[in-house]
Amino acid sequence: MSSQDLTRLLVLEMVRVTEAAAIAASALTGRGDEKAADAAAVEAMREALNGLPIDGTIVIGEGERDEAPMLFIGEKVGTGGPKLDIALDPLEGTTICAKSMPNSLAVLAISEAGGLLNAPDVYMDKIAVGGGLPEGIVDLDKSVEQNVRDLAEAKGKSIEDMMVCVLDRPRHAELIRELRDLGCGIKLIGDGDVAGVIATTDPATCIDLYMGSGGAPEGVLAAAALRCIGGQMQGRLLFRNDDERSRARKWGIEDLDRKYSMIELASGNVIFSATGVTDGDMLEGVHKEDGCFTTETLVMRSESKTVRRVKTVHGAN
Ligand code: FBP
Repeated sequence: MSSQDLTRLLVLEMVRVTEAAAIAASALTGRGDEKAADAAAVEAMREALNGLPIDGTIVIGEGERDEAPMLFIGEKVGTGGPKLDIALDPLEGTTICAKSMPNSLAVLAISEAGGLLNAPDVYMDKIAVGGGLPEGIVDLDKSVEQNVRDLAEAKGKSIEDMMVCVLDRPRHAELIRELRDLGCGIKLIGDGDVAGVIATTDPATCIDLYMGSGGAPEGVLAAAALRCIGGQMQGRLLFRNDDERSRARKWGIEDLDRKYSMIELASGNVIFSATGVTDGDMLEGVHKEDGCFTTETLVMRSESKTVRRVKTVHGAN
């Protein structure tokens, strides 16, 4: 069996991995303890990954070796098999989980070795749209106004009917002001920009465009998702100080101003899996009833563009 076929067989295994992390985090939903919820998800995801027949290397994880005891960047996981890059966020949206708010997820993406950008934990400026639009319709180098106008025209919409998703942060005050001056709607999210980017691909969310800066690791995960489901995304790393710049150089990034295309963020045969922790726009969260957990997972492959929703009942013991 080719390693490509073997990778394809991992789809259900990936679901199991994100389900395990989501169930573990769900026990701490609404408890106000971000660290404990994250730690529970990390431990469960690591255990599940270590049971897989893969030779996996974490390229996007919980941090560098000296700051993360588990799932650190460079950690090897699996029992042996195809060489894979792994990007993960066992609990994307730790604060929203701790506050029991919508859209926290357990997220995992894999690709062939070398397929996922080894992004340092700095901010990334991001722009993303869903599928079926002319290539290059939005671009980080265009002005906010030009992006919105070009996208509105391509979608046959008026600017007033456009909805842009932005993380609600003081650093986005100018972006928000520009968008309001243009007259479009803004969906402000408290956290969770992986879900925010994916939302651009789902007409039911009414989100046309994602803009603004968030974590670079989450940028790679979001690009992996769009590679599978369709859409366009660009990212550019943002550095606040020399320490962040030197960390990027340590990861082999020479051109610090580089604009990354979606394929440069996540190339090769990508599989992406996300399980809802709390109920959200995209996925239901973990529910517990009569001793059984139910989970909902979005799992997708870039090669086939297959998008599956897996609802699972985890039987009571
Ligand atoms: P965590 O799960 O690590 O808390 O990340 C949540 C998140 O909202 C990401 O989705 C986003 O990319 C990042 O934080 C934004 O960072 P900041 O909160 O510093 O603006």
